Amino acid sequence: MKDVRTILVTGGVGFIGSNFVRYLLQNYPDMRVVAVDCLTYAAHLESVRDALACPRFVLERVDITDAVAIERVFADYAPQVVVNFAAESHVDRSIEHPDLFVKTNVSGTGVLLSAACRHGVRRYHQISTDEVYGDLPVDSDDRFGETSPLRPSSPYAASKAAADLLTLSYYRTYGLPVSITRASNNYGPCQYPEKLIPLCILHALAGEPIPVYGDGRNVRDWLWVEDHCRAVDLVLQKGAAGEVYNVGGDSERDNLAVVRSVLRALGRTDDLIRHVADRKGHDRRYGLDSGKLHALGWRPTVGFDQGLANTVRWYLQNRQWWQSLPADR
Ligand SMILES: NC(=O)c1ccc[n+]([C@@H]2O[C@H](COP(=O)([O-])OP(=O)(O)OC[C@H]3O[C@@H](n4cnc5c(N)ncnc54)[C@H](O)[C@@H]3O)[C@@H](O)[C@H]2O)c1
Repeated sequence: MKDVRTILVTGGVGFIGSNFVRYLLQNYPDMRVVAVDCLTYAAHLESVRDALACPRFVLERVDITDAVAIERVFADYAPQVVVNFAAESHVDRSIEHPDLFVKTNVSGTGVLLSAACRHGVRRYHQISTDEVYGDLPVDSDDRFGETSPLRPSSPYAASKAAADLLTLSYYRTYGLPVSITRASNNYGPCQYPEKLIPLCILHALAGEPIPVYGDGRNVRDWLWVEDHCRAVDLVLQKGAAGEVYNVGGDSERDNLAVVRSVLRALGRTDDLIRHVADRKGHDRRYGLDSGKLHALGWRPTVGFDQGLANTVRWYLQNRQWWQSLPADR
C-alpha cells in the first residue's frame, strides 16, 4: 500500500476503525487517511484524538446511507482504496431494532459499492464477521472455511452476510476489485463497553454484577484488534480481488472463562457473575479456519492471556476514555 495516496476508512471512529486509523497513520507516513463516520452512540471522538492532531487525517461526519454526501466525499478526496468498517455491530441491538441494521449494514454498503464503482477505486474492502456462517456445536473441533454456507442466526449476522453477497456481486457484475475479511471476536483498546470484555472490566472495577447469558458456555474465538488491522493491511496488499479471507485469533474461550479471566486480572472473585436469561437465537460456538490468510503470511501475534492483560491495563490507564462516554450508554 506504499503507493496509496488516500484511503477512505468508514466507521473510523468506532472500535476497530479507530485502531485501523492509528495503524495506518503509524505505518504509512505518506498516506492521507479520510475517516467517514456519522458518530453513532458507538463512536467516541476520544478514540481518534491523536489522529485529529495529524495533518494527514481528515474526519468527515457523513452517514454511509446518504448517497449524495458519499458521492461528495469520493469526489473531494478521490480515494484509491476504501475499507468499510461502518456498521451497526451489536447483536443485542439488532434483536431490538433489526431495521436499522438492514439500513446501515446492507443499504450503506450498497451506497459505498456504487460510489466505489463510479470512481474506479483500486480496491473496495468489506469488513465482515465469522457470525455470517452461523454456529458450530460446542463439543466439536469443526471450523468454518471461506466456502462454508452462510447461515446467519441474528439480524446483525444476516445483515453482514447480505452485505458480503452484495460486495461479491459487484465484483462479478461490474468488475469492481473487492475483497472481504471475516474476522472473529475482536478485543483491545477503545471498545465500547456494551461488548463482553470492556463490559466485564468496567463492572468489575465498579464492583457491579456481571451479566452472563445462559450457561456461559458459548465459545468465541478472540482476536487482538491490532492483529486484525495487520490482516486487513495484508489482504489489501496481497489478497486477490473477488476473494474472502477468514481472520481467526486461534484463541477459543467460552464466555465464562473470559469473564473469570477478567475478574482474576482485577483481583475480583467469581461472586460478581450473574447468569441471566439467554440471548434469543444465541450462537453456541464460532470457529474459523484461517489457512487461506496464513498462506499469505499472516498469523495472530498476541495470544489471549497477553491480549487480555494489555486490554485490562489500557482500560485502567485510560479512565478518561470511558468516563467521558455519554451517560445514557
Ligand atoms: N467487534 C468485533 O468483534 C467484530 C468482529 C468481526 C467483524 N466486525 C465488524 O467490524 C466492523 C467494525 O466493528 P466495531 O466493533 O468497530 O463496531 P463499532 O460499533 O465500535 O463501530 C462502528 C462505527 O461505525 C459508525 N457507523 C455506524 N453506522 C454508520 C453509518 N450509517 N454511517 C457512518 N458511520 C456509521 C459508528 O459511528 C461507529 O463509529 C463492523 O463492520 C463489524 O461488523 C466486528
